[in-house]
Amino acid sequence: MPGTVLVVDDEKNIRRTLRMVLEGDGLEVRDVERAEDALQVLLEERIDAVVTDIRLPGMSGIELLQRIRSMASWTRIPVLVISGHASVGVAVDAIKLGATDFFEKPLDRDRVLVSVRNALRASQLADEASALRTAAGAREEMVGESAVMRRLYAEVEKVAPTRGRVLITGESGTGKELIARAIHRMSPRHEGPFVKVNCAAIPAELVESELFGHEKGAFTGAVARKRGHFETADHGTLFLDEIGDMPLAAQAKVLRALETGEVSRVGSDQTFNVDVRVLAATHRDLEREAREGRFREDLYFRLSVVPIRSPALREHPEDIPMLVGAFLREFCRQNQMRPKPVHPAVMADLRGRGFPGNVRELKNLVERLVILSGDEITVDDLPAESLRSREVRERHGLPAPEAAPAAREDDDDDDDGAHELRVPGERATLRQHRDDAERAYILDTLKEVDWNISRAATLLGLERTNLHKKIRGLGIKREG
Ligand SMILES: Nc1ncnc2c1ncn2[C@@H]1O[C@H](COP(=O)(O)OP(=O)(O)OP(=O)(O)O)[C@@H](O)[C@H]1O
Ligand SMILES: [Mg+2]
Repeated sequence: MPGTVLVVDDEKNIRRTLRMVLEGDGLEVRDVERAEDALQVLLEERIDAVVTDIRLPGMSGIELLQRIRSMASWTRIPVLVISGHASVGVAVDAIKLGATDFFEKPLDRDRVLVSVRNALRASQLADEASALRTAAGAREEMVGESAVMRRLYAEVEKVAPTRGRVLITGESGTGKELIARAIHRMSPRHEGPFVKVNCAAIPAELVESELFGHEKGAFTGAVARKRGHFETADHGTLFLDEIGDMPLAAQAKVLRALETGEVSRVGSDQTFNVDVRVLAATHRDLEREAREGRFREDLYFRLSVVPIRSPALREHPEDIPMLVGAFLREFCRQNQMRPKPVHPAVMADLRGRGFPGNVRELKNLVERLVILSGDEITVDDLPAESLRSREVRERHGLPAPEAAPAAREDDDDDDDGAHELRVPGERATLRQHRDDAERAYILDTLKEVDWNISRAATLLGLERTNLHKKIRGLGIKREG
């Protein structure tokens, strides 16, 4: 299994040892002393895995890890971190941030080899799986490599070749329509039409004529004969979006069409056959709607031969960097800009949000960031987390950022918002937002250096006394 491993360590001996061990195993090795140089190498060369010390002069190994995880084209590169004896806690944090594995000093030859080899094998398998899926066309638009998304791709691949009716459920903005389109694309009918009908958008009295067509003069306004969506979708796929909002009368007619494969236009007794595969989607709990009489139970059973659940974004936050990367490329291209880099703190912040509007909300946010930010997207560009997002996050027990501290009068930096007032309602002021970001960054840095204030102050570019002041002012406390 060939591959190139990038070793990042400021200690010459460690670099030499790792080079010997890895080259002895047939791997190529590149080594650099600093994280900054590692980023340069990553930009210029093909690297299959990174082994980095956590403590480095300048940018730390943790920040390097975060940068790698926040670039869409790098996010799948395995990153193994080396920690000193005293900083196993930091190594565990690194795992949470997406490190593949860690080892302690002094390095154990076999441990290193097993770990690097496993990491390379896992990432090659993931590459192959994703190449297969791309070949099959499933992923043309769907982004995400988390276990949750992989399960979804597997389900899509399984039902696509069949004629089975699929009911896609899931919260708004989770990608139900993308799933429906992927199923069609991967089905034997992909050369036939894909017809989408938004059942919630059609006025109740027009649903039947939209779906089944009408004869001239069938009702006032029916000035000409019209084909319905069932007819248009012949030999293809009919996607009934928001089926939960379809009026009961229309449901009866849809049920009949599904049972007999025949349809008739409004105002006509003549029936004819159509060859249509029906996919449906809803953000409602159809089972409950059926129980409570708002949806025909028999239709529900007919539609949900194969149920597929589209997962909420909070169930796979690990896909956020990859999604951000994909949307970033899309919107930068659309706006004729070069792809903008994203500060790792932005990814960390986004990963912690509740996203009640799911991927759609994230996508809209990225578009806004692309347009409003400068050369790099930083936490200053982020809007405050909305009240709804916070509620969702809390309801699902996702990790919460610490509460904002009481307003402080003194501040030592160039703060132009010293007299900002808290805006009632959901928005945090720029000041509160900046505090949150500062608090998170200082806390990360402190953890990284085991609360060595002098070291943290150096890394942060602050005087010790100023750092102490910030720690107090921002209400930062050492855990445990
Ligand atoms: N996994 C994904 N990868 C890339 N883009 C995605 C993904 N999931 C959703 N999107 C994007 O998010 C937006 C919303 O997706 P979609 O319209 O399919 O959601 P939906 O579940 O049908 O929402 P609603 O219930 O509100 O209709 C679209 O722009 C879509 O391209
Ligand atoms: Mg939709």
